[in-house]
Amino acid sequence: MTNPFTAANRKTWDERVDIHLRDTGEIYPIDAFRNGADILMPIEAGEIGDVSGLRIAHLQCHFGLDSLSLARRGADVTGLDFSASAIEAARALAAETGIEATFVEADVYEARARLSGEFDVVYVTWGTIIWLPDIRRWAEVVASLLKPGGRLYLAESHPFLRQTEQADGKLVVDWTWRTPADAPLAFDEAETYAGDGTPLETQRSYEWMHSLSDIVGGLVDAGLTLEFLHEHDSLPWPHVPMMQQGEDRMFRLPEDVAGPPLSFSLSARKRPRIPL
Ligand SMILES: C[S@@+](CC[C@H](N)C(=O)[O-])C[C@H]1O[C@@H](n2cnc3c(N)ncnc32)[C@H](O)[C@@H]1O
Repeated sequence: MTNPFTAANRKTWDERVDIHLRDTGEIYPIDAFRNGADILMPIEAGEIGDVSGLRIAHLQCHFGLDSLSLARRGADVTGLDFSASAIEAARALAAETGIEATFVEADVYEARARLSGEFDVVYVTWGTIIWLPDIRRWAEVVASLLKPGGRLYLAESHPFLRQTEQADGKLVVDWTWRTPADAPLAFDEAETYAGDGTPLETQRSYEWMHSLSDIVGGLVDAGLTLEFLHEHDSLPWPHVPMMQQGEDRMFRLPEDVAGPPLSFSLSARKRPRIPL
């Protein structure tokens, strides 16, 4: 049975897709993409390396902008998302741009059952694991999708930043650092973070807080070895209103405001099977 929080989240994501497709800002630069631009953010663009010829599973692919960007770089990409509207939009964008990729509608936790074969890379970026109740089970799913020697690339908002809110021009810690699977944080938002400002009908969504040690520890316990863990001073969206967007599309805190790292990225490789 689907977790009721996940069912509620799917409803809001289904609604957000159409609004995001009308993004006039820099979060989803769809027209630039249609005109041939590579729209990966500078962090992953600098870290992902040559993906040409690699088989990639892109988890939580939304409407496929990043999946299709990876495909344009020569990868054989399968995008997966639980939102029917996201998958429909991703297939439409692939057809319109003539880029080959496969899109599958499924929950992340069903990915092993729904995707065939093993992958060289599992690619997960920006606004993903916060929607997942059990980070250790997610790590097991990632491991199950990878071939031995294959790797996970993950880029996300920093868990420490996610605990904070803006108050009187400063960042203050307002949220707990860990949430149990059955007790996520509930948020009510009138609008989504991108698009044309259309009000949301489904305003309630649920997010989970995962600590860095649960994320990395989960991956290590699932059979992956950490290759790098980087922390960054930028994020693709403004976590708080005072963050300012740079020419590289990334948002940063004003220089005189003290804060934690805003995002992190990691690469972790699946350990080869050692014959007994
Ligand atoms: C912020 S978007 C990710 C955007 C991503 N950076 C990209 O490539 O465009 C989050 C996505 O996660 C999906 N999602 C949330 N929970 C999910 C789940 N349990 N299984 C599959 N997809 C999920 C949503 O439908 C949404 O498309």
